[in-house]
Amino acid sequence: MKKAVVINGSPQAERGTTGRVLAPFIEGMEAAGAEAQLFYAGRMKIKPCSGELDCWNKKPGQCIHADEMEALYPMLRRAETLVLATPVYIPLPGEMQNFLNRLCPLLEPVLETRDGRTRARFRADVAITRIVLVVTSGWWEAGNCDTVVRIAQEIAADAGVEFAGALVRPHAHMIWKKGEPTKEGQVVLEALRKAGQELIASGSIDPETLIAVSRPLCGQEEYRQVSNRSYRQASGEAEG
Ligand SMILES: Cc1cc2nc3c(=O)[nH]c(=O)nc-3n(C[C@H](O)[C@H](O)[C@H](O)COP(=O)(O)O)c2cc1C
Repeated sequence: MKKAVVINGSPQAERGTTGRVLAPFIEGMEAAGAEAQLFYAGRMKIKPCSGELDCWNKKPGQCIHADEMEALYPMLRRAETLVLATPVYIPLPGEMQNFLNRLCPLLEPVLETRDGRTRARFRADVAITRIVLVVTSGWWEAGNCDTVVRIAQEIAADAGVEFAGALVRPHAHMIWKKGEPTKEGQVVLEALRKAGQELIASGSIDPETLIAVSRPLCGQEEYRQVSNRSYRQASGEAEG
């Protein structure tokens, strides 16, 4: 069974947009035979890294903090795939950032220069071979996700593993209308399911599938007008 650990960094957990975008991706992974373990960074007690770097020096591989990461580390060590799922929160929700910093004990600081950059690697007891990103954002253009994509790419490069793709979903909330997927939204959800299957079945996600996940659900000007209208209605109602 191919093991995957999925970390959803959205404070909105399963009811959030990221959780609802992630669900069909996980379904696809499981349909292709993966065992996916899903965790919500915001629901776990994860202390911020305090920067002593004992996990590199005094006690290699061991974090000094005693919290819920203690249970997660063995699962991370056994997983083949690490899925990072997050909304864009200029750039990340704090809970997600805390989780990412706490990956430090899994890295071995024997430095190499790769493509001109100073890089470490995951330790030999870490099975992860690839990192995948699922990112949602509110505004229209996919470029809002670029910073988060870059962060995930950097983590994969620092760990010496493959970055197996970014599922980028801008104006993600527009997948649904009144709680139900729109016709266009349904196509996106299907593409997410397909992406999960492809990742587990072939080890990579077809570029066409990634394009389908990110496809615009309306024009940019229409998006702006609809958003401004609903903001005015919501704030008017709040004042009234
Ligand atoms: C604090 C905060 C910062 C955000 N920053 C951005 C941003 O820079 N660009 C963007 O497109 N959306 C931004 N958003 C919108 C969220 O990324 C978007 O609504 C996301 O799909 C929410 O997912 P969730 O429901 O799982 O939290 C922000 C939302 C919050 C609350």
